Amino acid sequence: MIALTTTSIAWVLLIVVTAGFIVYAVLNGRSAREELGSEIELAPNRKKYLEDEELEGRRLEMVQFTGVVLLAITVIALPLYWVFEPARQAGAVEAQEEIFVDWGERLFAPTAEGGFNCAGCHGGYAGSGGEAAWNVTDPVTGEVEAVNWKAPALNNIFYRFDEDEVRFILVYGRPFSPMSPWGVEGGGPMNDQQIDTLISYLHSIQIPRENCGVGEDDPKSCPSGNLPSDIQADIDTRAWQLVDDGTYGSYGEALFNLDLGSGAYSCARCHTPGWSWGDPGVTGQGAFGWNLTGGKAASAFPDEADMISFIKNGSNYGAKYGIQGQGSGRMPGFGSMLTDEQIEAVVDYVRGL
Ligand code: HEC
Ligand code: HEC
Repeated sequence: MIALTTTSIAWVLLIVVTAGFIVYAVLNGRSAREELGSEIELAPNRKKYLEDEELEGRRLEMVQFTGVVLLAITVIALPLYWVFEPARQAGAVEAQEEIFVDWGERLFAPTAEGGFNCAGCHGGYAGSGGEAAWNVTDPVTGEVEAVNWKAPALNNIFYRFDEDEVRFILVYGRPFSPMSPWGVEGGGPMNDQQIDTLISYLHSIQIPRENCGVGEDDPKSCPSGNLPSDIQADIDTRAWQLVDDGTYGSYGEALFNLDLGSGAYSCARCHTPGWSWGDPGVTGQGAFGWNLTGGKAASAFPDEADMISFIKNGSNYGAKYGIQGQGSGRMPGFGSMLTDEQIEAVVDYVRGL
């Protein structure tokens, strides 16, 4: 708004100055074309000027006074400009970011409200997790089955993936699932700007972190598990319940299969075939994420501490992990979602698969 007013004022000034200059040039040009000899009277340096008494009186004082006033304006205006400019720039960036969030929200909206329906599958505008109708085809028999595929919560997506990884998911989707590619490069309908605005929207719906000052905008920058304590408590309570009622044999196994927020906190949705549509096959036998059974995790990571750090940070594009692993950035990091204790329990369980 302020920027708009300033621009208008600048335009008016520019027009006035340009118009004044043109008028002056025209008048000057005309007077210069007067008959020969007239320049003797017209040339300013040939005209008789005011007497000393007149010149050094009020007139001089006025000129000096004007000079002081202009100096004062400069002296005050420059520091003021210097003081306000950084804030103005930051404000402009923030205002732009708000516009992006707003655009992103419109893309995120359900179909009925004109959006691309992220909200429809992922649990509304809050992105708290949902389900999507889908057909899975049995690769051997060709039999088609209608299922509901769990769509993970997105209000914690930056707790487990960084921005580039999320961008990759949005552009290329998860082509085997209801999550279609959205970016032009992946064959979807959105240009880079739209993907960027969606990412801004996703940032705006992240559940706030607790007790962690550093890197305010980056949920992953806390030193240990840093979900809000009520969610952390939910994860813990739910996992122990599943152990107590005999669904799973250990705390680690329960965490591996945990279904809070449509599997956002679990491993099984990527590592157990069929888990996402409620028809799990052999636990950890591999789906989108690799097969972890037969001691594969333990042989990929002979050093348990190394595996713990991998589960905490997830895989990074191109980076080595374990003995001969190279990450693709698609394995999320769990260090900001689970506590050290929980990660150790999961790792213990997975190494025994
Ligand atoms: C038809 C339903 C559907 C729509 C529409 C949809 N998604 Fe998804 N999305 C899913 C499903 C299902 C998954 C999980 C796929 C899997 O199991 O790997 C997913 C996964 C994701 C993931 C990865 C989450 C993770 O932790 O693995 C992100 C990010 C995501 N979607 C964002 C979006 C955004 C943003 C939009 C809107 C442009 C969108 N989705 C539209 C169903 C959908
Ligand atoms: C969003 C899907 C996803 C989730 C959720 C997920 N993983 Fe993974 N995981 C992968 C992918 C993909 C890889 C392959 C490495 C890569 O592409 O970077 C992988 C690799 C691994 C590996 C290395 C396997 C090898 O032999 O190289 C281990 C161990 C592992 N995951 C354990 C886990 C555990 C434990 C959890 C839960 C705390 C988990 N994963 C959750 C997708 C996932």
